[in-house]
Amino acid sequence: MSELNNIALKILEKGKGVLAADESTATMTKRLDSVNVQSTPQNRLLFRETLFSASSMTDCIGGVILFDETIKQISSKKNKIPELISKMGSIPGIKVDTGAKVLASSPDEKITEGLDGLRERLSEYYKLGAKFTKWRGVYSISKEYPSKLSIQANAHALARYSALVQECNMVPIVEPEVLMDGEHSANECYQKTSEVIKKCFEELILHKIDLSGIILKPNMILPGNKSKDKISNEEVAKLTLKCLESSVPSEVPGVAFLSGGQSEIEATENLNLINKYNNTKFIMSYSYGRALQQSALKFWGQNIQNLDGTQKIFNHRAKMNTLAAQGKWSKDLEV
Ligand code: 13P
Repeated sequence: MSELNNIALKILEKGKGVLAADESTATMTKRLDSVNVQSTPQNRLLFRETLFSASSMTDCIGGVILFDETIKQISSKKNKIPELISKMGSIPGIKVDTGAKVLASSPDEKITEGLDGLRERLSEYYKLGAKFTKWRGVYSISKEYPSKLSIQANAHALARYSALVQECNMVPIVEPEVLMDGEHSANECYQKTSEVIKKCFEELILHKIDLSGIILKPNMILPGNKSKDKISNEEVAKLTLKCLESSVPSEVPGVAFLSGGQSEIEATENLNLINKYNNTKFIMSYSYGRALQQSALKFWGQNIQNLDGTQKIFNHRAKMNTLAAQGKWSKDLEV
């Protein structure tokens, strides 16, 4: 077993998943604004280190994706953040893309940037303790989108990123996110997501990526958030499995879904059903941002001193998702 495969399996072992705490400062400011907390480096750190010190970090959270600011911060108890995460029994990771920008020649679409100077940044992050990384490509669905151009260009960037990350002995999380925004049906999401994922693997293989040393972070197959097409959670799970089974090479050890705007319970319920029906050999777990943090952030915004209470809420969500990653969740566990 390769060292990278070991890390990937460790992150996802026994129903563990990933906490995506890598919001850029602009996104984190939006999140903090929504609960009336001022977005200062100290407040961003306080909320995040509260989560990173919670007991579920040991039992449920196999890895944490950090943002550049956070990986360099020192906690209130004088721990470097990657050390705090490791001490809790989890693995520190880092978002390394620099964001999605307008795609020249197709200005309604996005291309993710951050390849320039990436080799040097990776070596810095590795020294800071990161063992895995994340890069997110984004695609929107409409009649003509995602275009062949955006599918090709983002797959190429994800592959170049993955090659540099593996060269630096870290596990790349490969995140092609087909957005939920729009009026499209679940079937359109299925078609487009399949096309996007297949192209990603075509490029990853061309770039000689060790597929046993990556984690795929896809969206689930859902109808658009403005769609008239409503499907059951069972159908979401079955379509998602069908899509991944037919587009992901068998060497890939695991999948960690993004939540992408689903509510906390929806993201948990869908993951649980995916695991109930999973006949593939892939581990199916989570790498949630909003679906792990939303309630904890809301509580903290109203009770900024109450760190125990904030942790309790976060621990509950992490536990529910870890049960779901084993197909062992049920609604009555949510009180
Ligand atoms: P959400 O789970 O909030 O979609 O965030 C996951 C993520 O890391 C997006 O890049």
